[in-house]
Amino acid sequence: MNYTEFKTGILRLTGVDLNAYKENQMKRRIDANIRKHGCKEYEDYLALLKMNRTLYDEFLSYITINVSEFFRNPNQWVTLETEIIPMLLKKKGSIKIWSAACSTGDEPYSLAMLLSKFMPLHQIKIIATDIDQEILAKAKAGEYIDKHLTNVPKDLRDRFIIQEGDKYVISPEIKKCIQFQQHDLLKDPYPERIDLIVCRNVLIYFTEEAKNDIYTKFSRSLNKEGILFVGSTEQIIGSQKFNLNPYRIFFYEKQ
Ligand SMILES: C[S@@+](CC[C@H](N)C(=O)[O-])C[C@H]1O[C@@H](n2cnc3c(N)ncnc32)[C@H](O)[C@@H]1O
Repeated sequence: MNYTEFKTGILRLTGVDLNAYKENQMKRRIDANIRKHGCKEYEDYLALLKMNRTLYDEFLSYITINVSEFFRNPNQWVTLETEIIPMLLKKKGSIKIWSAACSTGDEPYSLAMLLSKFMPLHQIKIIATDIDQEILAKAKAGEYIDKHLTNVPKDLRDRFIIQEGDKYVISPEIKKCIQFQQHDLLKDPYPERIDLIVCRNVLIYFTEEAKNDIYTKFSRSLNKEGILFVGSTEQIIGSQKFNLNPYRIFFYEKQ
């Protein structure tokens, strides 16, 4: 079995289309994982994944790379707080937010904490999605080690994060603001009439073709003058062809 046949096998088994992810990087990671499990051929590894649920879950988490942290790239969160959110609130009154590819939940929880500076918590509603069910279960549990929380401003940490031994737990009032759902950016229908999409550090793994398709769908998802917030290595070349105008660095406004 070659890599192309393996990708077809994975699509059938998991629904994840590896063709949309950059090939070199993905193949290198998968080959390393195959060696780690003592398999010689793609075929053996695929058979193992079919038989062993734990390995199957582990494989999905491994290929989708779940690294995250609260207020990742803090300067961009300052722009969000001082310019983007005030602008959106002024124009729209309320903001419908989607945190796409949210991983362990650090990003949507950061958004809820930040928004608490602008409105009562019961008014904050954030849709948070990821392809990986296991990671979503962790996100819902909202328990973290200190490393994830380095950039949380002290006032927000004191208000919304509870220390329990050596773990840190998100307060129930913040958890209530987030609606976690499984969603594959490559094939599921996108939420509609969104004012702020936050999608960071996932599109780097996709091919140009997959990225273009996702930008087109993000643009359709956004209300006019809504904002797309991307990761620090994910500036969109020729964003206008998706009706997305550069607004600030890493922020695009739907025309
Ligand atoms: C590196 S994390 C980014 C987390 C967070 N956005 C951040 O910037 O800290 C990438 C996430 O993308 C998710 N992902 C990968 N492929 C996806 C897909 N096709 N649809 C939705 N999420 C996907 C992974 O499961 C992973 O949780």
